[in-house]
Amino acid sequence: MLASLKSLVVLALAATTAQAAVVTYNWNITYVNANPDGLHERRVIGVNGQFPVPAIDVTLNDTLVINVINQLDTPASLHSHGLFQTGNAQMDGPSMVTQCPIPPGANFTYTIPIEQHGTYWIHGHFGGQYVDGLRAPLIIHNINETYKYDGEYTVALADWYHREHPVMLEHYLSIFNPSGAEPVPESGLINQMTDAKFNFAPGKTYRLRIINMSALAMFHFHIDGHEIEIIEVDGIDVERTKVESFAITAAQRYSVLVTAKNDTSMNYVLHADMDESMFDIVPPELVLNVTGTIVYDEKSPLAGYSQWEEFDDASLVPVVPETTSNPDKVYTLTAAFNVLNDYSNKATFNDITYVMPKVPSLYTALTTGENASNEAVYGKYTHPMVLKHNSWVEIIINNDDPGNHPFHLHGHVFQIVGRSKGIHDPSMPYDGYFNTTNPSRRDTVLVPSEENVAIRFKANNPGVWLFHCHIEWHLQAGLATTIIEAPEIMPSVLKIDQTHIDHCKALNIPFRGNAAGNEGLDLTGENVGPDPLPGTFTTKGKVALAFTIISALLGLATVIWYAREDDAQLSAEIARAKAAKAAAEEEN
Ligand code: C2O
Repeated sequence: MLASLKSLVVLALAATTAQAAVVTYNWNITYVNANPDGLHERRVIGVNGQFPVPAIDVTLNDTLVINVINQLDTPASLHSHGLFQTGNAQMDGPSMVTQCPIPPGANFTYTIPIEQHGTYWIHGHFGGQYVDGLRAPLIIHNINETYKYDGEYTVALADWYHREHPVMLEHYLSIFNPSGAEPVPESGLINQMTDAKFNFAPGKTYRLRIINMSALAMFHFHIDGHEIEIIEVDGIDVERTKVESFAITAAQRYSVLVTAKNDTSMNYVLHADMDESMFDIVPPELVLNVTGTIVYDEKSPLAGYSQWEEFDDASLVPVVPETTSNPDKVYTLTAAFNVLNDYSNKATFNDITYVMPKVPSLYTALTTGENASNEAVYGKYTHPMVLKHNSWVEIIINNDDPGNHPFHLHGHVFQIVGRSKGIHDPSMPYDGYFNTTNPSRRDTVLVPSEENVAIRFKANNPGVWLFHCHIEWHLQAGLATTIIEAPEIMPSVLKIDQTHIDHCKALNIPFRGNAAGNEGLDLTGENVGPDPLPGTFTTKGKVALAFTIISALLGLATVIWYAREDDAQLSAEIARAKAAKAAAEEEN
């Protein structure tokens, strides 16, 4: 009796897990040469000698295993963007947040139980390696999809640069760029090419999974002559919503259903227009209107161009409703760019620019005992926010900057509950959009210039999660905070294996203690960032001040850097400026 009951249980278990599989990818990360826009061949980061990096494709309940070998000459790490990683924060990937990066020549295995479905992506999270090519779609099929369709395509959008990210970054963050002008891409790509084609058969319905894997660009998506219906946003299935077009920022995803026409006499253009307001300058040769083709018949001509209107993503209604709750804790984060006291232009949340700690923050949480619940232990410049387990948290994000910012939270989707113009006063009710009834949920939200958005989520995922602007230039400029969720529970749910420790040792990175690698709350020697300049200068005033100082220092009247100037000359100028500054400091 007991034995047969036991075998019944085993049988039942086998039935529910029948579809789950272990899906293994071996990723040898290497440099490759590529010329995706046909304009310029260059070194890029690829996988297994291939570029573009092939997509990852799994099904809900699978276990995704990625065996990485880092064959670059710099450290590397991988982040599966949008995955909750419940009880698995040590596999989330951002360097110096949840792991020491993988040293050159070393291996690391990311083991990720798949608990969601929808459209995601995977990208490098050491420096800006994804900008150089280390990025790919990560598609998770549901066991029974919410909507029916006959076929699907992934439409991965990306901006593309002709120079390597580290070179551009040095110039971007240098004192020669006090206005913080981001490098403008040379091209926009669809599926890492300029002539992507999607074959449609008459009358069939297709799911298009649109992913923006850009460093900077926001795209406006539209298909000539076809209606599109949004069904998924950042992994959350939503009620079918007919739209003409939508904007998609770096790191966001949408799935749409498109029904093919019944006749094959015309082919149609799929548009992904880069938003020019994101670019400091639009060089005349830059093609903003990136296109692909919906092909019914290779021999058919292209149909004409049409106009369209945009819609508002907060209006999307999740199919599986989630209730919200009054927040136990409200944070206000005000994003801005400022020339700080090292005269570089840095991004700040509440006047703090993010600087990596000496010890990855997750290891600090796991090795500091009682102190792990004390924000101080993570260091001021990681901008730590410690959350209570299962509390409801609201973050009001004020964008006090002339640029638009897509903000991303690791380890969660959040509800978009409020939005208005200007800076929101948390003691006042929302005067713009406010919705707590099954609000739209996503993991990356656009906060337009001089507007604010309030997001809510439940702190039900013990771990350390980065919250940052997903414009890669802005992340590198410090627009990030660290969320430490339920540190008291972490040691019992998160397991760090020996490879983590080995990689730290190989790179000479301490793997225990506070942000400075010390015991207790002694943060002597912690990594510190530049701080705001004293006084009440406006941004313009600070830029002017920085110019004056630079000019005096170098005897130059003006130094203007635009993204396209000659690298070698700029590097030499920066080196000269640094030397002059050092000499000046020595004299004092
Ligand atoms: Cu796409 Cu820090 O993430």
